[in-house]
Amino acid sequence: MPPDNALLLRIADDLVKHGWSQQDVFLPQELTLQLAGECRARAAQGALTPAGIGRGAAMAVQEGVRGDRIQWLEAGQSTACDRYLQIMETVRLALNRTLYLGLEDYECHFALYPPGAFYQKHLDRFHDDDCRTVSVIVYLNDAWLPEHGGALRLYPGGLNGQDAQDVAPLANRLALFLSADMPHEVLPSTRERLSLTGWFRRRQRNGF
Ligand code: OGA
Ligand code: MN
Repeated sequence: MPPDNALLLRIADDLVKHGWSQQDVFLPQELTLQLAGECRARAAQGALTPAGIGRGAAMAVQEGVRGDRIQWLEAGQSTACDRYLQIMETVRLALNRTLYLGLEDYECHFALYPPGAFYQKHLDRFHDDDCRTVSVIVYLNDAWLPEHGGALRLYPGGLNGQDAQDVAPLANRLALFLSADMPHEVLPSTRERLSLTGWFRRRQRNGF
């Protein structure tokens, strides 16, 4: 079942007004469970690898900055992943319809933060590439409690803003924000933390 129109409009409205949005009931519950199972199975097979910073030749693994393990999703890997990609396609089209963002594609990866892992404050847009436009994360963690930590901390007022917003990584919660402008970090957790993290991208501009 694709997300309904009211939810898509709330997301668009939040992005315009606040630069971010949180929706608590996003995927069908059984799909969230399947995706969590798939993330764990990939981890057990050793398919998730330490995530890097930067891209291309400049990519480097630095666990003091970022401690998650990831694997990119591709179409055709499983029914659950394909359903997920289809749902994100409806979100992409809705954002283009309502906000004229010109989003052309979507890339995403499973991410697993082992206990104690974190991701220091950063922006998702690369210095040499302005394609990433909207960052999108769906969390896959059942029975997540405040004492488990692991919040996504957003800084809508900029790097030194005092208005930090915490999003706990609860199963089936969606968080979106504008990639270019939103500093954010992932706080350490006491439990393994699973998500699908991705980006809607537009064509390269600004003469890069
Ligand atoms: C990222 C990121 C946030 C999260 O992977 O770039 O900021 O809550 N993830 O997992
Ligand atoms: Mn990020």
